[in-house]
Amino acid sequence: MLSGIKPSGELHIGNYFGAMKQIVELAKTGEYTPFIMVADYHALNTMQDAEGMRTYTKELVAAYLAAGLDADDIIIFKQSDVPAHTELAWIFDTITTMPFLMRAHAFKDAEAKSKDISVGTFNYPVLMAADILLYDTKVVPVGQDQKQHIEYARDIAEKFNHVFKTDVFKLPEPRILPEVAVVPGTDGQKMSKSYGNVIPLFASREEITKRVMGIVTDSSGDRPENVYAMHKLLKSEEELAPLYAEHAGKYKALKEALIEDLEAFIAPMRTKYDSYMANPDLIAQVLAKGKERARAVTEAKMVQVKTAIGVN
Ligand code: ADP
Ligand code: TRP
Repeated sequence: MLSGIKPSGELHIGNYFGAMKQIVELAKTGEYTPFIMVADYHALNTMQDAEGMRTYTKELVAAYLAAGLDADDIIIFKQSDVPAHTELAWIFDTITTMPFLMRAHAFKDAEAKSKDISVGTFNYPVLMAADILLYDTKVVPVGQDQKQHIEYARDIAEKFNHVFKTDVFKLPEPRILPEVAVVPGTDGQKMSKSYGNVIPLFASREEITKRVMGIVTDSSGDRPENVYAMHKLLKSEEELAPLYAEHAGKYKALKEALIEDLEAFIAPMRTKYDSYMANPDLIAQVLAKGKERARAVTEAKMVQVKTAIGVN
């Protein structure tokens, strides 16, 4: 199993419910060897700020540990620590066409905003294919928005195997939890750091209160849909039914109930997170160990790749 998150901003509960939670749960089953990657080279397309990169990288590792990953059981590493990722991305570049990459949703969205797209952004799916395929990955737990990228990885694997008449690469599957495929933000749109509609994953009680009170509600109907949508992440519909019946039309009371439930969910993780953040040596050790393990796997894979293409 492999997944990645870019260290490109403050984590929010959309990242947690859409990706991290499944990653942590899958990692804990013991069914797969869990590789968790800090996608710093992907982030470099938008995060061109050394201090920010260092801070968000540290926060991401602390967040995974706080979310329940056991530092002894998982392999958590930085993409930039494992040179095979960019090396394989180059090899894939040579068998990947521009029209194929131009069909990517992420590229089309970026192009709609501005024509000044970096080559790195254009090539994003190729590096991601390398991330995934280097580890013979079976499952890639991600949010819905990443589904197409996994399809790109599959297509690139098939193309490589076909062109070089080999079976070096295995085909990965996405793992997407349908009920939280898109976590809504405080304005009802997809929660995203770029929309300013997030509940930060380690928000203080005050911050939770401020953000929940800012949830957009329309004044018709008994149930504030944007409040309910977020509440459903924390409690089942059966548990919520009596609360929403009792407070029908009382949006303030319902928001207060959501604040309590968010605080109950966040507070224990926040305490652990703060303790990891206060221990940078531990974070450095976890990453150093991850780097060793990831390098061992990828170096072996690159021998197969180089044999298949005839450069060794
Ligand atoms: P953002 O949209 O805030 O920039 P990222 O693109 O860095 O978030 O996403 C990191 C991971 O979290 C990805 O796997 C993505 O699918 C997941 N994710 C982000 N936002 C959401 C959301 N609102 N709902 C579900 N999953 C999400
Ligand atoms: N593209 C993913 C995102 O934006 C991050 C990522 C990079 C990733 N490489 C990956 C996710 C490999 C899964 C597997 O969230």
